[in-house]
Amino acid sequence: MASVMCNIMILFFILSSLYEECLSVRFKVLSISSVSVTLGVDVVIPCCLTPEMDATGMEIRWFKTRFQPYVHLYHNGKEDYSVQRPEFMKRTELLKENITRGVFPLMIHNVTAQDSGEYHCFVESSDHHGRAKVQLQVTAVGGLPIISSITDNTLYCESRGWFPAPYVTWTDHEGNKINSSIVKVLKDENHLYHISSVIQLSNTSNITCTVSNSLNQSKHDSWQFIGRRLPKTSRDTRSHFHIISSSIILILSGCVFLLLMCFGASELHIEKLQNEKREFKKKNEELQSIYEKLQTSEYKSLDGRLDAKDASV
Ligand SMILES: *[C@@H]1O[C@H](CO)[C@@H](O)[C@H](O)[C@H]1NC(C)=O
Ligand SMILES: *[C@@H]1O[C@H](CO)[C@@H](O)[C@H](O)[C@H]1NC(C)=O
Ligand SMILES: *[C@@H]1O[C@H](CO)[C@@H](O)[C@H](O)[C@H]1NC(C)=O
Ligand SMILES: *[C@@H]1O[C@H](CO)[C@@H](O)[C@H](O)[C@H]1NC(C)=O
Ligand SMILES: *[C@@H]1O[C@H](CO)[C@@H](O)[C@H](O)[C@H]1NC(C)=O
Ligand SMILES: *[C@@H]1O[C@H](CO)[C@@H](O)[C@H](O)[C@H]1NC(C)=O
Repeated sequence: MASVMCNIMILFFILSSLYEECLSVRFKVLSISSVSVTLGVDVVIPCCLTPEMDATGMEIRWFKTRFQPYVHLYHNGKEDYSVQRPEFMKRTELLKENITRGVFPLMIHNVTAQDSGEYHCFVESSDHHGRAKVQLQVTAVGGLPIISSITDNTLYCESRGWFPAPYVTWTDHEGNKINSSIVKVLKDENHLYHISSVIQLSNTSNITCTVSNSLNQSKHDSWQFIGRRLPKTSRDTRSHFHIISSSIILILSGCVFLLLMCFGASELHIEKLQNEKREFKKKNEELQSIYEKLQTSEYKSLDGRLDAKDASV
């Protein structure tokens, strides 16, 4: 008799708790596992309730790692920016067009590298709450890698503006991978990565430096060997020429100065002085044209590379 009573009580308990469950409106919060976006664009991160229900009166909180400060908060029927993370200031927008059907995606404007990471969409009604996780993956494809030579058998390759961290691969003319001796990856002030690599070559062959990010977005530069030896860096040659030409100009100016000192007092020598001046000017122009010729013909292709490199440094 006691056991029958007990069974009836258990049944009653189960039924009453089921009834309570039916009364309180339960929901699940859904999103997608990850969203991939290019640096600088606007992104929409989905979030919704199932079963479909009106979320107008609920709290909708988007946060990253910590509940507070949050990325975006909507409660009591309006937005609350009082404890928002400063980096999201004026960049977030809850799209409420379909909020009555339980759909309320978050828009983030002008995505930065730092926006990458895990986001939580937390929703709370008067008697229930739930949340969904979503990974935001921001990607940036950096600048063209630039190859330059350091010594006869050492090449240097660098590229900046990558996100997430890139990797470098060197390949020879047949597409075989060559191990690099040094690889350095640095983060710049915008949290983008700068990669540089040095390779030592035992054998000359046309070589390609490819920089890629984890999504296999990549860019490359190739270095072609003319003849058997590596081309010399034009930077050294150019600076030598600069030194030579500027010393000649210096010597010539010294001569003019001396001439000025010697003959300055004498009216008779003014004519001579002007001739010297003219000659100096002519010599200077000649020198300039030789220098320009050298620069444009022999070193043109290399200068292009170096200038591009200088500009990117
Ligand atoms: C709201 O729902 C309609 C119909 O499904 C859709 O076309 C629209 O894009 C939605 N708006 C937002 C902001 O999601
Ligand atoms: C986007 O963000 C970058 C870096 O934070 C900033 O330099 C740029 O001006 C922003 N662009 C717009 C359209 O707000
Ligand atoms: C290149 O590196 C890989 C992995 O570190 C190594 O297994 C391989 O032997 C290296 N190749 C050469 C030619 O050094
Ligand atoms: C150097 O290159 C030549 C021709 O491409 C090849 O036959 C030789 O095996 C290479 N030597 C080494 C050490 O890789
Ligand atoms: C390297 O490239 C140059 C120019 O394209 C070509 O003439 C030369 O044969 C190439 N060398 C090798 C080893 O592939
Ligand atoms: C990138 O390329 C590697 C090798 O080519 C491959 O194993 C990997 O799945 C690729 N990753 C993506 C995201 O496409």
